[in-house]
Amino acid sequence: MTQHQRLLIIDFGSQVTQLIARRLRELNIYCEIHPYNRVDDAFLTSFGPKAVVLSGGPDSVTRPGSPRAPESLWSLGVPVLGICYGQQTMMQQLGGLVETGHGTAEFGRAHVTPTGPSLPLLEGWFAEGREQVWMSHGDHVSRIAPGFQVYGTSPNAPFAITADESRRFYAVQFHPEVHHTPKGAKLYENFVRLAGFTGDWTMGAYREEAIRKIREQVGDAKVICGLSGGVDSSVAAVLIHEAIGDQLTCVFVDHGLLRLGEAEQVVTMFRDHYNMPLIHADESDLFLGALTGVSDPEIKRKTIGRLFIDVFQKHATAVGGAKFLAQGTLYPDVIESVSFSGGPSVTIKSHHNVGGLPEKMGLKLVEPLRELFKDEVRALGRELGLPASFIGRHPFPGPGLAIRCPGEITPEKLDILRQADAVYIDQIRKHGLYDEIWQAFAAILPMRTVGVMGDGRTYDFALALRAVTSVDGMTADYYPFTHDFLGETATRIINEVKGINRVFYDCTSKPPGTIELE
Ligand code: XMP
Repeated sequence: MTQHQRLLIIDFGSQVTQLIARRLRELNIYCEIHPYNRVDDAFLTSFGPKAVVLSGGPDSVTRPGSPRAPESLWSLGVPVLGICYGQQTMMQQLGGLVETGHGTAEFGRAHVTPTGPSLPLLEGWFAEGREQVWMSHGDHVSRIAPGFQVYGTSPNAPFAITADESRRFYAVQFHPEVHHTPKGAKLYENFVRLAGFTGDWTMGAYREEAIRKIREQVGDAKVICGLSGGVDSSVAAVLIHEAIGDQLTCVFVDHGLLRLGEAEQVVTMFRDHYNMPLIHADESDLFLGALTGVSDPEIKRKTIGRLFIDVFQKHATAVGGAKFLAQGTLYPDVIESVSFSGGPSVTIKSHHNVGGLPEKMGLKLVEPLRELFKDEVRALGRELGLPASFIGRHPFPGPGLAIRCPGEITPEKLDILRQADAVYIDQIRKHGLYDEIWQAFAAILPMRTVGVMGDGRTYDFALALRAVTSVDGMTADYYPFTHDFLGETATRIINEVKGINRVFYDCTSKPPGTIELE
């Protein structure tokens, strides 16, 4: 059981519930999201929240049987903040009235003006008379519950901000968690301050707590960890090693589809620098052999996935008697969100590289990053002393260069691609652009084109350069390099890498493209 002050977010199925958690974590507040239909009176008591946030949601409180907060919430004695649907169910449950539509729906930007006296929740608001907020509601509150007072109003939401200060119940019609509500973060800051939070969720505290929990869970058993060289599995491995030392063995599967010097970097860092038991499984012949003649992207991915599991299992068995498998699963992968059909839907994504292994091998999971978001994992990595250059590395897909080499993969193409990619990344670093870009890489195209170098004709491969900005990889914009940068990079690649005589820049965003070429 964590010793932190805890905030509970009851999820009614809004698309942006995760953002509430983000805003709160940014304030060093520990919070968890739980779906409304899993939060009953017993859960509330055992969770012990210091405050509760009720999320938005797609349902209508006017519909019989629609979601509600547990009745015991109102007598818990802790501050409650209701957002959108959360506001409406709060009003309805406490004796107010909610009605549907009739020209009062509001979607998008709106402005709230203050009414009534000042409210600690709104400290820093209304300096310029009104605040921009983001609304998304069909229903509206038509009568507020007894004890509540109005503090802010918008053209279509007369009760945009209401509160019962004596009970510390707050209700807003808009979404303070989205960036389109510019002062939203301030509202959350005010809320947690008035709830008495001290901001005790720090990475230093998390590290100590996680180490204690890993020791408790694992005892003196052996643990294996699939190390990909990516940030998540690396941070998990370093943390677990700190907790249980050489009871941990990492298995790094080199499928021959890594970037220039990558295998050496990972092995040197973990084996030499961290002194961690590490199996470096060089299985490039096996993988590249199985991929010979394969050009269909899905068959490539499936072949790599299947071999990966076989190889990992072979080496893990060699460790002997491991009872646990460590994975770098993150919080967004484990959040149980409420589906739009109204029923709970559990989305648990396992690490693609070792998915299915725990059941097959009879292993239990150790997932010390389950409570963290990606940027928190990076912060923990820094806390654990991982080099900044390593923590800030761009994501790299499990199937590696295979999906950056459309069509058939050959050792020649991989070799050219590795060198060209290294020059491209070097250019990006030299121009100080690496940290502005979510992901950048080269891909070798399945075509040869004619060129002229010196006095001779060339007939070589064409290369595509890709660089995107993104928040989570789900959507992405292509990066707007200057023409000078692109010209200089193309020249360097053609001069320095034998086998490339033409360079294209990929200006496709996602959607409609994907980030990787396959
Ligand atoms: P796409 O190409 O789907 O990529 O737009 C989105 C993000 O996911 C990464 N990616 C993968 N990562 N295994 C991984 O671990 C995979 O099979 C895989 N496919 C794509 C991609 O690099 C980008 O960051």
